[in-house]
Amino acid sequence: MTFEEAHIRIKDLSEQLEQHNYNYYVLSQPVISDYEFDMLMNELIALEKQYPELADPSSPANRVGGTVTKEFRSVKHKYPMLSLSNTYTEEEINEFDRRVRKLISGEVEYVCELKYDGVAIGLTYQEGRLIQALTRGDGVQGDDVTRNVMTVRSIPLKLKGDYPREFEIRGEILLTHKQFRKINEDRESMGEMLFANPRNAASGSLKMQNSAEVARRGLDCSLYYLLGENLPFENHFDSLTKAREWGFKISDHISLCRTQGDIHEFIQYWDKARRELPFDIDGVVIKVNSYRQQEELGYTAKSPRWAIAYKYKAEEAVTRLLSVDHQVGRTGAVTPVANLEPVFLSGTTVKRASLHNADIIASLDLHYNDFVIVEKGGEIIPKITGVDGKLRKAGSEPVTFISRCPECGEILVRQDGEAAYYCPNSKSCPPQIKGKLEHFISRKAMDIQSLGEGKIELLFDKGLITRPSDLYKLVFTDLHGLEKEYDNPEDGKTKKISFRDKTVYNILQGIEASKNIPFERVLFALGIRHIGETAAKKLARHFGSIEKLMTAGMEELIGLPEVGEKMASSILDYFRDPENIEMVAELKTQGLQMHIPDETKSPPTRSKTLEEKSVVISGVFEGYSREQLQEIVEQHGGKNTSSVSSKTSFILAGDKMGPGKLEKAATLNIPIINLQEFLEMIQEK
Ligand code: IVH
Repeated sequence: MTFEEAHIRIKDLSEQLEQHNYNYYVLSQPVISDYEFDMLMNELIALEKQYPELADPSSPANRVGGTVTKEFRSVKHKYPMLSLSNTYTEEEINEFDRRVRKLISGEVEYVCELKYDGVAIGLTYQEGRLIQALTRGDGVQGDDVTRNVMTVRSIPLKLKGDYPREFEIRGEILLTHKQFRKINEDRESMGEMLFANPRNAASGSLKMQNSAEVARRGLDCSLYYLLGENLPFENHFDSLTKAREWGFKISDHISLCRTQGDIHEFIQYWDKARRELPFDIDGVVIKVNSYRQQEELGYTAKSPRWAIAYKYKAEEAVTRLLSVDHQVGRTGAVTPVANLEPVFLSGTTVKRASLHNADIIASLDLHYNDFVIVEKGGEIIPKITGVDGKLRKAGSEPVTFISRCPECGEILVRQDGEAAYYCPNSKSCPPQIKGKLEHFISRKAMDIQSLGEGKIELLFDKGLITRPSDLYKLVFTDLHGLEKEYDNPEDGKTKKISFRDKTVYNILQGIEASKNIPFERVLFALGIRHIGETAAKKLARHFGSIEKLMTAGMEELIGLPEVGEKMASSILDYFRDPENIEMVAELKTQGLQMHIPDETKSPPTRSKTLEEKSVVISGVFEGYSREQLQEIVEQHGGKNTSSVSSKTSFILAGDKMGPGKLEKAATLNIPIINLQEFLEMIQEK
């Protein structure tokens, strides 16, 4: 490819990718598959790497991230970032309307919008390009998070249409419930502290140092306020309509209202309908539409007089705090949990609430027997949001965070920058040992379904297992006849379970079957801190065997795109411990998969059959994912491309191949082969 051709192709790819981004993330109407998108993106990234001088600062390649910001620069806002005064009753809204009408002349029209519960952001565009993204900060100056914001797919990096030369647009960075759950599931599988709600998760994500990690969080952004000099509109509603045309994601749930009744209707409608939204809102915002009238009304020191927020009441109840438990997880993280006098709250009886960490206990100034406010927001676990200090009994003891592990007595430690305290006694603290064993047998790890939490606990209590390799030493006589008594919560009676023939047989068979679980899941099952499912998979594919991983150094580890410093140090720490080395060796002797079979190993070339061949894979295939087929193409020296051109050697077609590709292949006379033919082709040599 000549320099000129590369220039043209980069431009073409960038435009295509931005359009696909817009289709997917703003319109929610993708027209190509994720795979095809990734292929275009890979091609662009490769070309920009080859011709760095052709890389556009607003290139969609920036969306995958990769820059590291050690400290976010503090920058003064061009227009201070004000907030809104909050109201909680319809009467307060009526008062607002009366105040507005008193101060201005003529008809008044309001715009009612949703109040997003996310993180405020101000985006500056010049000549149609995103040049800066600032957080609110203290309202006067905020943090420059531009590189991280560029990874948010619904934020346009370049605009379309007739936009003003320079302006700022403000909105809210948020996470959908679905994405929030995914992040927390990943964190759970890595043994990390969970985020309490989508807002905290969004705000934490925005401040991460590595923008590649931000990209993976899947943040979204809704915009609601345009600022600039001499904007060519007369009112707020028109500005949003135009901004939508330039490519911004602007809510469809906006209403023009003329009367107090209209506003109340909007508020009441969304109080119910908000439960169906895929993200959290905490109220609605009511804004005077006309810019002229907004100017007439002006601002107070803190907020505009032309807008007001109506906040929905979170569903909450007041109850008494009985005690606080400190739970120790498999990684040693200690989570405080409040035991409450049972109280009915939005459909369920609440007895326990998470207190998250020591800082939260301190900021609530919690005392035993306090009357606390319990709230159930978007999240499933209720939380304590406040304390009624007036009802506190004189002399009641403050709740303090423990300094020693409640299970083993070890002094707790806290790492810099982390909210959680840990029990460092990972070797002999019972819940940590049990937690690691439970993780080992869990569904996504070794998947030994015949053993559950209860059975693991019994085997541990009887001194039969303390580490995964002990499971593979169990024999019939160890298990047969084991008994456990427990209290049945339904009738309060004590019950007994005992291991008879069938149970024992199932357990032993389940353990035996787990020896076929592939290496990547064995690696995940080991429970190395910060190594989740995805990281384990990547590491297994890259290194191919436990021995190679064990001997890898810091440099090689952090050289991998998916591995950061935290993960790398955790791997090094794990394999520095002789006990872990010994246990891994034992597991290997016991027959667990400690390497990947040759055919799934990545790159090393297996043949040169496809050398100089450019292959397009299209459609779906039985028994193979596209990624696997792509890997096979590469292993045989071929190159994968996403679009059919005169340079394509052949198309490997599965079911449901796109009609566009078929047509193009026919015009260019490009051979189409099926999976069978392909497999034969690579085996012939
Ligand atoms: S307009 C000068 N519209 O709530 C007024 N704000 O407490 C600019 N928010 O600072 C804000 N949804 O962070 C506006 N539809 C919406 C909003 C919204 C959420 C946030 C924003 C604002 C805060 C007000």
